[in-house]
Amino acid sequence: MSEGTKAPPRLDTDRLLDDPRTRIIVCCGSGGVGKTTTAAALGLRAAERGRHVVVLTVDPARRLAQSMNLSSLDNTPRPVPLPDAPAGGTLHAMMLDMKRTFDEIVEAHADPDRAEQILANPFYQSLSSSFAGTQEYMAMEKLGQLRRSEQWDLIVVDTPPSRSALDFLDAPQRLSRFLDGRLIKLLTAPTRAGGRAYLKVVNAGFGMLTGIVTKVLGAQVLRDVQTFIAAFDTMFGGFRERAEDTYRLLQTPGTAFVVVATPEPDALREASYFVERLSEDRMPLAGLILNRVHRSPAVRLSAARSLAAAEALMPGGGTENNSQGGNGAGTPLAEVTPHPLAVAALRLHAERMQRIAAERRLAQRFTAAHPGVPVARVTAQPEDVHDLAALRVIGESLGSD
Ligand SMILES: Nc1ncnc2c1ncn2[C@@H]1O[C@H](COP(=O)(O)OP(=O)(O)OP(=O)(O)O)[C@@H](O)[C@H]1O
Ligand SMILES: [Mg+2]
Repeated sequence: MSEGTKAPPRLDTDRLLDDPRTRIIVCCGSGGVGKTTTAAALGLRAAERGRHVVVLTVDPARRLAQSMNLSSLDNTPRPVPLPDAPAGGTLHAMMLDMKRTFDEIVEAHADPDRAEQILANPFYQSLSSSFAGTQEYMAMEKLGQLRRSEQWDLIVVDTPPSRSALDFLDAPQRLSRFLDGRLIKLLTAPTRAGGRAYLKVVNAGFGMLTGIVTKVLGAQVLRDVQTFIAAFDTMFGGFRERAEDTYRLLQTPGTAFVVVATPEPDALREASYFVERLSEDRMPLAGLILNRVHRSPAVRLSAARSLAAAEALMPGGGTENNSQGGNGAGTPLAEVTPHPLAVAALRLHAERMQRIAAERRLAQRFTAAHPGVPVARVTAQPEDVHDLAALRVIGESLGSD
């Protein structure tokens, strides 16, 4: 146990939300830690404190989406009705539809017949819906669009579910590498007119490859793949430029990254990697949000004492006089009627206290490694968070940590 670790500075989320210089908040973290919930809760709180906010969510749970007035995936921000926003703020929300974003690119750049062929093409369908990194890439693309529109004074960005928080930062580069990659070059070689010398070099390999691909997929599919990639490729310079712009935007002081983690080893390890990466990339970190932290209303009853009490209440356990009525002797516990529920409650309490201690140790370990990183805690709610009221509770928990 790192007893000597000092408490981390507190992450003051309200100050962050109220500061007009904060224009973008990006919620990152490993899978399932509460990124979407945190993004929605921060957005709601900021709007209720007077800001004009748009929340870009990725893959929200259906009920959460419904509570934010989002009935289907769509690429346009929708207003979230706020019954009382006394400070005059507004909230919009959208769900990123990565396939649709991709489809729109195709539709905008190929003639209708060709576009239809491409959209129906299995190669395209799997690329647009499952290529690792597409979602992250499209999230960045969308963030850039929202920022350029200048319609909101705060954009809160949720990031896609992925094992590693780093994927969000790495995806645009990965997509570039994919599109610059050998396979793509070979497949699109004939459509890159003009590069005769280049063609000569790849021709032998290309012939073999197209031979195989044609056999497996059929000539039409291959042509469609080529058409799609060529269409995509003509826009690719623009894509890459915009992705680079957005990346630079993420480095400006108006951006604040919050890293979300649950107090568990894997999530905190990922959070550590991410914190280091942000500093390498000179991206502004606001702090760590420790989500789903357990608490107890009876912290003064330790796990050990709780277990001992449970033991004492068991038939035949503990004090001399507790076989049936158990009302006699000495300790206050002996006055309690032995009851399976009491025993179960004491055991549960002991478990909870052990868990709280373990969570605290993990948090201390993180802080020992990153002493300057501010931390805010969000209490674990008894139920999933799927409506505005529950989001508000999360926001309050953040604001009053
Ligand atoms: N503080 C909390 N207390 C209770 N439940 C929570 C809390 N925070 C999040 N949850 C629940 O945990 C689940 C996962 O949360 P969420 O979807 O926000 O995580 P995520 O990081 O966005 O996941 P993914 O990586 O899959 O996108 C949801 O069911 C949500 O309601
Ligand atoms: Mg999510």
